[in-house]
Amino acid sequence: MLKNSADRFGLISRLLHWGIAGLVVVMLSLGLRLSDMEPGLANLWLYGLHKSLGILTLSLMLARILWHLYTPPPRPMGGGRQAIMARTAHLAIYALLLAIPLSGWIGSAATGLDVVIFDRWTLPAIAPISPLWEETAFTLHDALTKVLIALLFLHMGAALKREMDGDGTLRRMVLGRARD
Ligand code: HEM
Ligand code: HEM
Repeated sequence: MLKNSADRFGLISRLLHWGIAGLVVVMLSLGLRLSDMEPGLANLWLYGLHKSLGILTLSLMLARILWHLYTPPPRPMGGGRQAIMARTAHLAIYALLLAIPLSGWIGSAATGLDVVIFDRWTLPAIAPISPLWEETAFTLHDALTKVLIALLFLHMGAALKREMDGDGTLRRMVLGRARD
């Protein structure tokens, strides 16, 4: 079962969820390492890795949105206020995982250096060369990652709590269905 249905997450959505989740954890750790450094020749590769994996995350998020327009995922279980909160949190995570890599790309382009990913592809310069754009975009990049971290703690806590309450929420994201 590759596609989603009203009560199950298909394989593609589950692979996208866990693949992007893994990437996001790596990206947050890499980013926090970079924020303690001064850019130089010795650590240029780390910046390159962060930018490459960040653009990969952005591409996978776009693929995820297209996939979910084609085959919508099941609604959060339970209904009522809890389901509305879950849905709101999911939408906010989607928005952040677009805005964070975009602000990183804009800030990097604004420095005037080429943004090269995977040592191979030069991305279009999507911002004018400008210290103001650079400063604003990276301030946003930093602030939004803090919001993302807080939301992800909430997200994981809620998933674990609901699984312990026994409604099968976590099982559904791992195995597809809440119960056999
Ligand atoms: C999901 C994707 C991404 C995440 C989660 C992420 C996360 C982070 C974090 C947590 C920081 C440290 C912020 C701070 O404390 O100052 C950071 C810094 C940085 N990010 Fe990202 N990032 C992502 C994508 C990107 C992309 C796509 C680019 C560029 C193409 C990029 C370029 C940078 C740069 C250059 C820095 C260092 C900024 C500085 O020196 O102040 N990031 N990122
Ligand atoms: C760390 C990065 C993570 C991100 C960015 C993330 C993002 C998301 C998003 C956007 C959804 C909405 C469903 C969709 O559109 O695919 C979702 C659902 C879900 N996530 Fe995560 N997630 C992460 C980590 C985790 C972890 C570690 C767990 C387990 C503890 C988890 C458990 C779940 C579950 C159970 C659902 C399904 C909720 C439902 O049925 O309504 N997620 N996640």
